[in-house]
Amino acid sequence: MKAGNENYLLIKTVPGLEDISAIEIKNLLENLEEITIRPHGILGRILVKVNAPIFEAAQILNEKARSIEKVIVLLGICKVDRTKSGLKNIYEVIKNSKVSNLLTPYETFGVRPSREGRHEYTSLDIGRVGGDAIIDRVREIFGERPAVNLKHPSIIVYCDVVGDICMVGIDTTGDMALHKRGYRVFDHPAALRPTIAYAMIKIADVKEKEILLDPFCGGGSILIEAACVYKKLRLFGIDVFAQNIKGAYLNAVCAGVSGKITFIVGDATKLDRIFNIEVDKIICNPPYGIRQLRGERRKEIPQLYDKFLSSASKILANNGVICIITPKRKTVELAVDKSKLQIYHEREVYHGGLKAYIFVIGKRD
Ligand SMILES: C[S@@+](CC[C@H](N)C(=O)[O-])C[C@H]1O[C@@H](n2cnc3c(N)ncnc32)[C@H](O)[C@@H]1O
Repeated sequence: MKAGNENYLLIKTVPGLEDISAIEIKNLLENLEEITIRPHGILGRILVKVNAPIFEAAQILNEKARSIEKVIVLLGICKVDRTKSGLKNIYEVIKNSKVSNLLTPYETFGVRPSREGRHEYTSLDIGRVGGDAIIDRVREIFGERPAVNLKHPSIIVYCDVVGDICMVGIDTTGDMALHKRGYRVFDHPAALRPTIAYAMIKIADVKEKEILLDPFCGGGSILIEAACVYKKLRLFGIDVFAQNIKGAYLNAVCAGVSGKITFIVGDATKLDRIFNIEVDKIICNPPYGIRQLRGERRKEIPQLYDKFLSSASKILANNGVICIITPKRKTVELAVDKSKLQIYHEREVYHGGLKAYIFVIGKRD
């Protein structure tokens, strides 16, 4: 695409889940012309070309999408040098973009820089040259400069530098990224991003009227996301700590879905003692570090995974699946080997910068 073409949205999503976000975007936008996953090989980005008023398309995604984190109306894209001279490239792409169509001297603006990779400049440098470019351009056109307001700007100019690519646009989401759901009044220390929770529900192919269990539910993200999307699921959440169950319930109340979920204080290694019904989908992020275990040590994580999968296999429906996210790849593979289960699907994702794996596990043929 050419710099300055404002029919494009730049979407930020979870690296490794771009395909799930692309399906969601396709379902939400009627006038979508083209969708490119990982443009220029950049993880966690999607370019969407729409044949409709671009800010209206952005608004639909901001209001309805559950798997994406930011929606940016793209104004320019260019190659940048990783040396100091890259700042000149950034200045030029912003100054020559159609930012002046949207900004006047009478609105405040702020540049939000984001940088990934090795560069001879910092994010602060990017923000500074971006601000200079906008001020210079608006002054050229209007003879006056717009005011910078970094705390509460009316217009947020997003400048995303990844490796040797720079993408610039108007951030229509704002500083509260879409994965920060309003219902999180109880902040579990190892909470899963709700965007990932939503994606796992899709990867596990959850369907209306099924029974879904999260046996390590913590603050309840997976169950709450499922309850927000599906009307007729039967949802169960288990956690060994009563305080987490209370917190998950509070979060569910705030999301308006508490009546749809049954929360139980219990042990995920003894599921067959808790349930006498078959479960269609088990979706969870089991503990992977010492802090999340009671009275056990890190080396006992493999035992926990073994016992969990063995008890899960006893309550899983014949065509049911277990969907797990964890950084403990080998531990899952070994536990699956020991159980009567097999891995159907595996993918790498990044959870807050940490590499993790999503597995879909089912009964052996
Ligand atoms: C990584 S956290 C889950 C976070 C959750 N997905 C969320 O978004 O808030 C793992 C949870 O497993 C719970 N847990 C640890 N051992 C358990 C066990 N044997 N049975 C059930 N829950 C357990 C911990 O109390 C913790 O809340």
